Amino acid sequence: MSGEQESEAKKPKDISELPGVGATTAEKLVQAGYATIEAIAVATPMEIAQATGIPLQTAQRIVDAARAALDIRFKTALELKKERMTIRKITTSSKALDDLLGGGIETKQITEFFGEFGTGKTQICHQLAVNVQLPDDKGGLGAKAVYIDTEGTFRWERIEQIARGLNLDPDQVMDNIYWVRAINSHHQMAIVDQLFSLMSKDNIRLVVVDSLTSHFRAEFPGRENLASRQQLLNRHLHQLLRLAEVYDAAVIVTNQVMARPDVFYGDPTAAVGGNVVAHAPGVRVQLKKSRGNKRIARVVDAPHLPEGEAVFVITEYGIRDAEEE
Ligand code: GTP
Ligand code: MG
Repeated sequence: MSGEQESEAKKPKDISELPGVGATTAEKLVQAGYATIEAIAVATPMEIAQATGIPLQTAQRIVDAARAALDIRFKTALELKKERMTIRKITTSSKALDDLLGGGIETKQITEFFGEFGTGKTQICHQLAVNVQLPDDKGGLGAKAVYIDTEGTFRWERIEQIARGLNLDPDQVMDNIYWVRAINSHHQMAIVDQLFSLMSKDNIRLVVVDSLTSHFRAEFPGRENLASRQQLLNRHLHQLLRLAEVYDAAVIVTNQVMARPDVFYGDPTAAVGGNVVAHAPGVRVQLKKSRGNKRIARVVDAPHLPEGEAVFVITEYGIRDAEEE
């Protein structure tokens, strides 16, 4: 580490140190959601120019500088393999869904569940807040959960039922879930910032954000706000990913998408089916309703997972395999 830090000595550490970025420009960038060198480095100059009003040429120079400042470090294939082997998994309580996910919800990673209302996104979040507490040999991590609730749909009663379904002591299980209501997108991001210190003091290995997108959609409606919304969401996702990596935790986010995108004309991200977070790292799972309490899960854009679908059911005691009913 020390060797790396020496060679980094002259590199800009935050956006105000990038060449050509004065106080006013820095302020514009931050307000548009480009608060870090990483956020700028992965953006296009056009996007930044549009979101901030900075001239395109200047934006181009800033992006170039941010890319130059980023550390590009090669890893060997063996290092990749070793990193991969440290990833842990949490069971969903459905063998079919676990199999679809390559063994369960992974740590060091963001898993997104998206689908229409009532497809079971919130139910899966509740189930995992309980399951992360299970011991290793039962598919858990023996750890606690944080539940960031943006829509007010968290139910402790449901946690009780799910805990009973696993023969766990409901009070003890509820005592290991930290709930917080996020009142707007800004608050939602501030909560994640705070989690960095909370997680270092406590054994928290699951962070749920249910829903990731509702506040952002409500606060930045329509096409004209799309660039700003995207930038903030990207920043939020990068915060969450860092949290997952630093604390070897699983992060689950939900995202409601509409069945009839034509109704939401003017919101191009709705029209392409939840693409609002499409470029974020992680595993994306689409949920669909089937007959009765049956639900169908499908993993999208995940080259490391086999294609296919899993059928599960939502029961009184939580998520289960369909045939267990
Ligand atoms: P939105 O947040 O509206 O987008 O939906 P969602 O995808 O989060 O849906 P949610 O997870 O809330 O799923 C709702 C479905 O779960 C209901 O239609 C019920 O079928 C089922 N469900 C919820 N609570 C219970 C319960 O206590 N018992 C049983 N048996 N099923 C439940
Ligand atoms: Mg929900």
